[in-house]
Amino acid sequence: MSIAYLNGTWQPLEDARISPLDRGFLFADGVYEVIPVYAGKAFRLAEHLDRLDHSLSAIQLAAPLSRTGWENLLNELVQRNEGGNLSVYLQITRGAPAKRDHAFPAADTPATVFAMVSPMAPAPSATPDTTTGAAAVTAEDTRWLRCDIKSVSLLPNILLRQYAVSQGAIEAILLRDGVATEGSASNLFVVRDGTVITPPKSPLILGGITRDLILELCRAHAVPCAEANVSEAELRDADELWVTSSTRELVPVVRLDDQAIGDGRPGPVWRKVAGLYTDFKRSLDPSA
Ligand code: PDD
Repeated sequence: MSIAYLNGTWQPLEDARISPLDRGFLFADGVYEVIPVYAGKAFRLAEHLDRLDHSLSAIQLAAPLSRTGWENLLNELVQRNEGGNLSVYLQITRGAPAKRDHAFPAADTPATVFAMVSPMAPAPSATPDTTTGAAAVTAEDTRWLRCDIKSVSLLPNILLRQYAVSQGAIEAILLRDGVATEGSASNLFVVRDGTVITPPKSPLILGGITRDLILELCRAHAVPCAEANVSEAELRDADELWVTSSTRELVPVVRLDDQAIGDGRPGPVWRKVAGLYTDFKRSLDPSA
């Protein structure tokens, strides 16, 4: 049974309770992070906490804990759940004031802080030789204009992901004004003529921690890469297509809207960069 953290107390997840007046419940007025843990160690923790700071300040919510406070909380969460490979979910909302009101509550309303873990399945990048690749579909990006905030307000993402699932696909790749942004819960990479390309950071995408690490690894290992807009035509005509996230690492997409991408198999650049990713994890902890 997993142990969760809620507002200063530790308890079995199934016993954790929040008020129906919580603004996360009423308004989705909150932000979150998903942080992978390998062999009991949080991966790219500083980067995840930087993004959390960005999300909190973007919604004008004072950080309820210091940087060290977050680190201690997450370390204790992992220890109480006996380490291993996990994903940590951390959510902060604008608390549960006595009255439902769209405007912010009094500044001294305590934020709600909730954290839990889930088991993490091995990612396809860990087994490049047996990975066959996934199917994705395209969909119009119906989200708001502040996708850089990791907001718990995910209804558009949920509807888009469900559309993908209903089509037998694992992800919806989103198009805004004919330009690819990202997946419903992932960032997007294409490979064209040997160059790895991902859309530039902007308010229209979530700045993925996995995305940033992939760019870092490409630069460190002389894999040509660029941050550039990807048109719908370039997306469909890519040699390789990947989606990336903390929980799924790098997933090769081999079919898009029922058309093969490249030769319909995970490509050589994916194989190379997935290998760099796995090596990087192992360099931090050989058992990861
Ligand atoms: N989602 N874009 C969106 C819209 C996302 O929801 C995510 C991750 C990403 C990838 O970000 P990162 O590499 O930092 O995980 C990009 C998480 C995993 C989720 O909501 O569960």
